[in-house]
Amino acid sequence: MQQDKPIADLSSDEARDELARLSKLIAAANRAYHSEDAPQITDAAFDALKKRNAALEAAFPKLRRADSPALLVGAPASEGFTKVSHSLPMLSLENAFEDSDVADFDERVRKFLGHESSLFYTAEPKIDGLSLSLRYMGGKLVHAATRGDGAVGENVTENALTISDIPKKLKNAPPVLEVRGEVYMSHADFAALNARQIEAGDKPFANPRNAAAGSLRQLDAKITQSRPLKFFAYAWGQLSEPLARTQFEAIERLASLGFKTNPLTSLCAGPEAMLSHYHLIEAQRATLGYDIDGVVYKVNDLALQARLGLRSTTPRWAIAHKFPAELAWTRLDAIDIQVGRTGALSPVARLTPVTVGGVVVSNATLHNEDYIAGRGAKGAAIREGRDIRIGDWVQVYRAGDVIPKINDIDLEKRPSSAVAFVFPKVCPECGSVAHREEGDAVRRCTGGLICPAQAVERLKHFVSRGAFDIEGLGAKQIEMFFTDSELAVKAPADIFTLERRDAANPLKKLKNREGFGETSVKKLFAAINAKRQIPLDRLIFGLGIRHVGDAASGLLARHYATWGALEAALTQAQEGNSAWNELLAIDGVGKVMAESLVAALQNDTERAAIDALVAELDVVPVIAITPVDSPVAGKTLVFTGTLEKMSRAEAKARAEALGAKVSGSVSAKTDLVIAGPGAGSKAKDAGKFGVEVIDEDGWLALIGQA
Ligand code: IVH
Repeated sequence: MQQDKPIADLSSDEARDELARLSKLIAAANRAYHSEDAPQITDAAFDALKKRNAALEAAFPKLRRADSPALLVGAPASEGFTKVSHSLPMLSLENAFEDSDVADFDERVRKFLGHESSLFYTAEPKIDGLSLSLRYMGGKLVHAATRGDGAVGENVTENALTISDIPKKLKNAPPVLEVRGEVYMSHADFAALNARQIEAGDKPFANPRNAAAGSLRQLDAKITQSRPLKFFAYAWGQLSEPLARTQFEAIERLASLGFKTNPLTSLCAGPEAMLSHYHLIEAQRATLGYDIDGVVYKVNDLALQARLGLRSTTPRWAIAHKFPAELAWTRLDAIDIQVGRTGALSPVARLTPVTVGGVVVSNATLHNEDYIAGRGAKGAAIREGRDIRIGDWVQVYRAGDVIPKINDIDLEKRPSSAVAFVFPKVCPECGSVAHREEGDAVRRCTGGLICPAQAVERLKHFVSRGAFDIEGLGAKQIEMFFTDSELAVKAPADIFTLERRDAANPLKKLKNREGFGETSVKKLFAAINAKRQIPLDRLIFGLGIRHVGDAASGLLARHYATWGALEAALTQAQEGNSAWNELLAIDGVGKVMAESLVAALQNDTERAAIDALVAELDVVPVIAITPVDSPVAGKTLVFTGTLEKMSRAEAKARAEALGAKVSGSVSAKTDLVIAGPGAGSKAKDAGKFGVEVIDEDGWLALIGQA
């Protein structure tokens, strides 16, 4: 077996053998998965085989087999695309809406870097399309992947090969180069495509972005080829060597390699210049011929970008300054109350459908009861105190992909019969009291799991993408399984007992129901069983505990590592005891989240549901990935006093990137204290616990930055 041997060490004969072996393995795995409904290896193992195959083919292009698994892209149409794990995550951007947000961004960046004088930024249009990552090895395009969830995207290589803006071969490129950018469709091409769609009796696309996404994500590359897609390069992923020293020069380098880059990219010497470029782009927006929805600013110096680093999904060194949203007037026909996963009663405006920025809008959020009544967060008047009533003429707006909102109402058009809206005090779904806690804008149903709306929303969350992501089990199936008295999927554990219960039910088997058959039921059970093995962070997130999102689930999983440890901690935790203190000491866990976690695990009904679920699962512990060669990997550090060469935020981000845990207080578990001038009690505590103390220079030397 050559599998673990580095590709660079393989002889040509060995590579040929391994390509043959991989082709066999991948074909067998494909057969087992697609045709026999019995996956034999995990998705991750499958992806690893495909990745190894692609890397081998790139290193030995002449040995590419006629039956290369790389050519099987998206082959089984019903199953969609194969998945690609991004070598570096594909990020999204923080948004700015006001001019002052841009000045704040610049200030935050300079503070983080401890940089007093002004900084250069690039400013360029934010293209309204969909992002794509192109991987070139040895100058050859080997992979194109959509963003997906940022970590794993869809393999759309065959489709990307049909886009003329995307070079297939590069000259003088780094051996490994991932170019990232936006696929989009011009207004003219969009209009022509829609005319063709209508003529052929197909549904027209709502806007160029949807048209671009629909065209790129075609399983048949011939269809993509017939759709006029374009591509702008504006970023990169993995590189075997740097492209340049600055963002601006890196973009120039991409242009010289043959990529289309946006001509409105400019270098700005601070917020004033950034805003003036923003207005310049805004003034040209209508005549560009393609959709843009704002301007992206990026720190120009790539060394500073590296120091600024990333938050969980966005870089600290960039921001998107969005254009003001588009507006339209329409009638508010009704106000419905939806009950969410955490019991929140959310009022939704049902509108006479109206087109806003190319999209038909028929619903808008009304936030909460105060918002309807004309009161803002702290009781202060909004809309000069005007309330919103059924029958009102309202102005709606859309900003990005979020649910439309109401901007204004026209009192002159209010029907004389319109009455003030009375917000319900009981849950419209289960009749339980809907309680509003002091200081909370939201009224919540107190029914917990007895409320069918909460229970069903929790189930939908449980099977959703970031959670258990069970294929073939989406919102629609959950609604059906929940209401069907035979299937009785009322809580997550019921999903995992479904197959057993179905087998014991000769009369009303799932396969005999509408929308199901022998194969689809088999497939569904296989998909459910495949998720019995679940990483701890996904389980935590799947539980849908209020205030515990994706990032927090990761933090908890990394800290406690096993379900047993987490469960024991949350069962024992009581304000003030050591389990409670340990929970709160996790960076990113605050009191509100801790209370919510403890409440969930210490409530009998909730606990019973969680225990029943865990009994069905094999929870995979989380192994913290720490860089092996970092001297602080796995250590707990405390910074105290003033740091002079890097801000506290940067020091913390740097330590975490090197695999250390940064804590706010010194305890017996602390490994190292970094004390600057003015360090007080923490340095003393270090003495008490016998923890080593170093100064800032010692710290820089330790991480190799002296
Ligand atoms: S930079 C690390 N530049 O906007 C930053 N993104 O809202 C990577 N987008 O997912 C993105 N135009 O799809 C960047 N000139 C531009 C962009 C751009 C459009 C998209 C991109 C990203 C999204 C974030």
